[in-house]
Amino acid sequence: MEVMLFNIEEFDIKLDTEFIGRNFIYCDEVESTNELLLNSKDFSQNGTVLLAEYQSKGKGRKDKVWISNSGQNLTFSVLLKGEFKSRKINLINLSTSLAIAQAIENLCQLNVELKWPNDVLIDKKKVAGILLESTSKNNKIIKIVIGIGINVNQPNFPGKFDIPPTSIRKEFHSIVNRERLLSEVLNNLEQNFDSAKDQSEKIMNDWRARCKMIGEKIKIIDDERIKFGIFEDIDEEGFMILRQGDLREKIHQGDVNVR
Ligand code: BTN
Repeated sequence: MEVMLFNIEEFDIKLDTEFIGRNFIYCDEVESTNELLLNSKDFSQNGTVLLAEYQSKGKGRKDKVWISNSGQNLTFSVLLKGEFKSRKINLINLSTSLAIAQAIENLCQLNVELKWPNDVLIDKKKVAGILLESTSKNNKIIKIVIGIGINVNQPNFPGKFDIPPTSIRKEFHSIVNRERLLSEVLNNLEQNFDSAKDQSEKIMNDWRARCKMIGEKIKIIDDERIKFGIFEDIDEEGFMILRQGDLREKIHQGDVNVR
């Protein structure tokens, strides 16, 4: 497939936000958009979005790598500046995965599923991932970087994966306009962040509606530990509630699989 350069003007026309993406940085190649936004003093504006056509050291969750063909997908990070309560971090994760799902649904009318804590799936295959990183000062989170990788137009995915990958193109059977998709994700992201301030239950419910694992028997792998139980629900902070008999446990992280 030929590589089409990202058209910033086309993206900008569709962007309908107050702050997210208003400072937009486009790069051909970086090691990792997350690393750059986290560590560079050059970027300080709240809502800055840094998009790279190619990452030579793209980071995934749990020290994995995120590999993505150059020019075919969306690999970008969003910078949030301010003071954040650590218990709000999960809500940001859920709002972000929800925004990606909403954008794909709106543009392609595909059924999108969300997997706790923040994978985005189509037909049980992973189409997007999120890596949220932060920096703290005096025990306060002052900077959050939301790294988002969406497989948009990549035709195939050689290699071994925990969850089989896919792209929107593969599921939609047509090339997808990356500029429209990015603006749609960012528009939804800002709206979800707004709702999360005083209507977090709405975000939770929209997220729950797309999570097919709630109510299922699951297995959670967190480092060396394995836990079994029923994925009862997510709580008001977005943590998983795992039920084992009469016991309920709050789960903060881990890879979840249906048994
Ligand atoms: C996952 O493992 O599911 C998370 C993947 C996150 C990948 C994105 S791509 C843009 C941003 N920069 C990175 O280095 N990683 C994130």
